[in-house]
Amino acid sequence: MSEQKQDTKQTSTQNQTSSATRQSRSGNYKGNQQNNNRNTSNRNFNRYRANKKYNLQNQPNNSQQNYNKQQRRSNGPRRGGRHQGRWQKSNNQDTSNPFSNLNEIQPPKPLPEIDENDENWKQKLKLPVKDTRMKTEDVTLTKGNDFEEFYLSRELLMGIFEKGYEKPSPIQEATIPIALFGRDILARAKNGTGKTAAFVIPALQKTDPNKPYIQALILTPTRELALQTSSVCKELGKYLNVQIMCTTGGTSLQDDIMRLMKPVHILVATPGRVLDLANKKVAKLDKCQMLIMDEADKLLSPEFQPLVEQIITHLPKDRQILLFSATFPVTVKDFKDRYLNKPYEINLMEELTLKGVTQYYAFLEERQKVHCLHTLFSKLQINQSIIFCNSVNRVELLAKKITELGYSCFYIHAKMPQHLRNRVFHDFRNGACRNLVSSDLFTRGIDIQAVNVVINFDFPKNSETYLHRIGRSGRYGHLGIAINFVTYEDRFNLYKIEQELGTEIKPIPPVIDKSLYVA
Ligand SMILES: Nc1ncnc2c1ncn2[C@@H]1O[C@H](COP(=O)(O)OP(=O)(O)OP(=O)(O)O)[C@@H](O)[C@H]1O
Ligand SMILES: [Mg+2]
Repeated sequence: MSEQKQDTKQTSTQNQTSSATRQSRSGNYKGNQQNNNRNTSNRNFNRYRANKKYNLQNQPNNSQQNYNKQQRRSNGPRRGGRHQGRWQKSNNQDTSNPFSNLNEIQPPKPLPEIDENDENWKQKLKLPVKDTRMKTEDVTLTKGNDFEEFYLSRELLMGIFEKGYEKPSPIQEATIPIALFGRDILARAKNGTGKTAAFVIPALQKTDPNKPYIQALILTPTRELALQTSSVCKELGKYLNVQIMCTTGGTSLQDDIMRLMKPVHILVATPGRVLDLANKKVAKLDKCQMLIMDEADKLLSPEFQPLVEQIITHLPKDRQILLFSATFPVTVKDFKDRYLNKPYEINLMEELTLKGVTQYYAFLEERQKVHCLHTLFSKLQINQSIIFCNSVNRVELLAKKITELGYSCFYIHAKMPQHLRNRVFHDFRNGACRNLVSSDLFTRGIDIQAVNVVINFDFPKNSETYLHRIGRSGRYGHLGIAINFVTYEDRFNLYKIEQELGTEIKPIPPVIDKSLYVA
């Protein structure tokens, strides 16, 4: 504790005495490299590692070991790296492996004895440690409903409260009753404001575990998001006997076929795999009344839309379709008109960016980027960061550079073997490393509460990508910062994105006030 305080003090002194200079849009951002606070925090981090006995070398198979060696050679995810800044795990961070035994069949659980007249049932719940961090109006500006007002089963309410959800967020309040009623929905709400539970809660409530077939299909554009979403389904439905299965590319088709021989009620999937299983008549979707498309605009991009339309041919005619995203470009309209039946449209995005996320840019030359990142590492109080690059190659090169600078980092992109993607995702989420370099694989939906800094090492080309990337920090109305490296070539994009999002990306100041992004 005292070490942490010391850490914080050192960093703030550093900031005050920093010789970093900030110039206007035509200028450069340069900072000095003061790393005085590393030793103290190294001790904290090493102590954490010792406690966790975090060791990637104890891997179950040879290919994993070979890959690890390769990663070490290329200075990829490194375990002995030096560390800077204060390391802190979020109270709410789940330390269990969210992906282990994900598709194991849940044995029928004896339902907890529920006395409908017991007014004290809430007091008997095992609630997580309360998150006392300040939250912005993005999640607090509600009508004041309670989950109990939605006529949810007691078992589902128990799962919701034990997940730490006390009150519904604005999007949950707006969509849960409508979805329960059976209407098609097109819902738009800001990043990190609880869209997942807004569709998972009605899906769980409407599923009858006594009917042995798929009743809801949840589609996501990436495998990691499918894993995360099925994990949320399991947590919220932990007192229900609903069987949830996650099926994505990059895993054994045979295993999925075997699993589908047993009852599955909710299927969470990426489009390619579920279409394959449906075409093989292994995944039977003819009684699946609910199709949920998370990150719907991405699922309706040319890459996915043909697959999605084929999946819909396997569903019954009177199915309910729910579309969720923070971004709905006009291209979605055509799909909406063709497939949705008098959809209830909810748009909670009068303003597009999150109130808790402050955005800055640093104008620089390509060759100055690594140096600038180094400066940021030494000056910022990063709890966890995601650093985005625009290509797989650049992700790997940057991860190498960061490791050479003496900072620990993981990296992830879609060209990595799936089991390693899972491992990096799981370990980063559990706080095994402070920094993650990523391609756009992690741009959408990924929810890691401890991330308070997002860095666009490469500035994105469009405003949707920008919005989703910076939305990886400031989850559930918390604080965060987004720092954009902008080169001469990016200058028009910066202007365009500011215009399209109606937001201001300010030049980075010499000192960034910690109260803007440290809880
Ligand atoms: N009612 C609630 N009370 C407290 N926390 C909540 C509540 N609903 C959701 N959360 C938490 O908020 C975080 C963000 O939720 P979620 O991932 O569903 O956001 P999202 O709107 O889908 O964001 P994105 O657009 O980035 O996909 C999660 O950690 C989730 O557990
Ligand atoms: Mg989401």
